[in-house]
Amino acid sequence: MLTIRSQFFNHFNQHPSLVVKSPGRINLIGEHTDYNHGFVLPAAIDKYIEVAIGKRTDGSIHMVALDLGETIILPIHNLTPHATQWVNYIIGVVDQVFNKSQSANNNFIGTQNTLTNTEITTAVNDTNLSGGFSICIQGNIPLGAGLSSSAAVECAVLFAINELYNLSLSKMEMALMAQAAEHKFAGVKCGLMDMFASLHGQKNKAILLDCDSLAFTYYPVELKDYSIVLFDTQIKHALASSEYNTRRLECEQGLKIIQEKYPTIKTFRDISLELVEECLATRIKVYQRCKYVVEEIARVQLAVQDLAKGDMQAFGKKMFETHEGLSKLYEVSCPELDFLVNAVSHNENVLGARMMGGGFGGCTINIIKKTAVEIITKELSAKYNQAMHKELAVYSTSIEDGTHLVA
Ligand code: GLA
Repeated sequence: MLTIRSQFFNHFNQHPSLVVKSPGRINLIGEHTDYNHGFVLPAAIDKYIEVAIGKRTDGSIHMVALDLGETIILPIHNLTPHATQWVNYIIGVVDQVFNKSQSANNNFIGTQNTLTNTEITTAVNDTNLSGGFSICIQGNIPLGAGLSSSAAVECAVLFAINELYNLSLSKMEMALMAQAAEHKFAGVKCGLMDMFASLHGQKNKAILLDCDSLAFTYYPVELKDYSIVLFDTQIKHALASSEYNTRRLECEQGLKIIQEKYPTIKTFRDISLELVEECLATRIKVYQRCKYVVEEIARVQLAVQDLAKGDMQAFGKKMFETHEGLSKLYEVSCPELDFLVNAVSHNENVLGARMMGGGFGGCTINIIKKTAVEIITKELSAKYNQAMHKELAVYSTSIEDGTHLVA
């Protein structure tokens, strides 16, 4: 198979200036907590988006999606959301660089780690990003599986632009800009987790991110006799992104109601289950959403203690609890995901299992005894096929480094 460098050469008759790889992510625990100022525990994985990039001087962006065999050419200025979604992940971050990350500043959480307008303006003026660039893109992150292929594209492109034009952006700045690009160009009001994890990943480590302060800590993941296996439902229900945005709004509503009574409450971090009961009991959906969020924020903090102690039994139990909350209270699961989790929940070789990511399809994440992976996979595939008339896709993953230049 041709390398991305030679494919770039074939398309543009020049060598790329650099090649960047950006991984997909898993999340061990802490789901739908990132946009609620909670904690998440993601890690980068051994599935990647790869980009090759080179400067142009004619003020245009030439984009080639190698896997799709598609080429799109656009002027680099006055970018607006495009009808082709993969294009949005590229031009969305270019727009962020030009727009000096205003939405990253406004939209996400804390006030630190953001760029001032002057800083980015200077950076862009010092370079010739206005001249445009050529880019080839390819990858092996399964699409729609909840492994954050879109975030990986955004991070790969932004990292490449940052290197190519010496913008001196930090990883956290890039994560915030990629998140803002997703909001503005892809229309999903996602949290920071996916971009953060893709950029900050470290081999064999999970990262506890405090989505309020943006402080983060690495935790070694030592699974010994166990391994992380993803079971992919191979479905993505159409309502995934609209329901995602609705959940976010429901949580905001709940917070606002509580704040009206208790103005000192700033975020979900200040909210106890008692307060949820007291203020939201009559608003059934909002109550359920907020109860889940408060419980999950507490659960992640306990789960990292399990991880630090190496108590994977306790950790796995919490994964099942998270699934229960996501399914019954937060209502972002679906029959296929519930089926996969229920099917392994009484298996002594499975420490934990739950749906992962935004929901309504995608994967479950499972911690399974290595010696039992093969038999469990075989049995589950047959059962899933019989019950859901779908093929189960299975990925054994390892935890790897985040976005990096390829030599
Ligand atoms: C998607 C979003 C993330 C996060 C998860 C749910 O992956 O992109 O920001 O909210 O869903 O935890």
